[in-house]
Amino acid sequence: MRIEKNNQKADNRAIGVFDSGLGGLTAVKELMHTLPKENIVYFGDTGRVPYGTRSNETIIKYVHQDIRFLLNFNIKLIVVACGTASSVALEKVRTQFEVPIVGVVKPAVEKAISLTHSKRIGIIGTPSTINSKSYVRSIAQMAPDVKTFDKACPLFVPLVENGYLDNQVARLVAQEYLEPLKKERVDTIIMGCTHYPLLKETICKVMGEGVALVDPGAETAKYVKTFLDEKKTFAHEASKQQYRYFVSDSIAHFEELGSLFLQKKMQNCVEKIDIEQY
Ligand code: DGL
Repeated sequence: MRIEKNNQKADNRAIGVFDSGLGGLTAVKELMHTLPKENIVYFGDTGRVPYGTRSNETIIKYVHQDIRFLLNFNIKLIVVACGTASSVALEKVRTQFEVPIVGVVKPAVEKAISLTHSKRIGIIGTPSTINSKSYVRSIAQMAPDVKTFDKACPLFVPLVENGYLDNQVARLVAQEYLEPLKKERVDTIIMGCTHYPLLKETICKVMGEGVALVDPGAETAKYVKTFLDEKKTFAHEASKQQYRYFVSDSIAHFEELGSLFLQKKMQNCVEKIDIEQY
């Protein structure tokens, strides 16, 4: 840590971000925008995606490995940019590491509560996230008068990982999953999996106007800004390699879809690692 001329502390260590695949880039995109000087190390566990249909034990094991991998870099904060990992593993692993760890549930819930007028919030997520009831419990604690309706959408992650974002197939699947939430007249939906904002256009078309969509990755990035501000640990300069990405499977596939999503060419910045070693 350095003391800058204006007496502000500078902490140029990187923020570590991980997800089971591409979805966590929703948080990275927002972090790049809100905190342009921060260094980011991203890990997408593309070789083991999806997490959301696996047992809690497996997800917890994967999350330990993901964090241990990121801690090989000079990391000041870990962002669990995955609804499933945040819902199932965060509370269990948080105490086992010294580094601060933030997840996506709380920031998304706070935003949804601030947006709803009808006090009817829909939550969509992976089967593990929905079974964990993490979002439902968090809303009940923060706003007991709000009614919640949740729905697992297991086909959404494979659609995103295969680039099926706004086509007929995506629309049919979304109709099937979202119909029950439409019937319940929710006015706000938490896209409780960080992959889902890539399907935002499709979800919007199916739900119709007047339904607000909450992007947990983006909300978490805003929360990170507040966190660094409180701790006075903003970075004051970006390193030469400001953004580094690691995956556990094909680099080419991640570069292709990642560039599309970040609207930024990803070339020679993605490396493949063997996550089983961590
Ligand atoms: N982005 C992850 C999440 O937020 C994807 C889930 C998965 O890998 O199944 O839940």
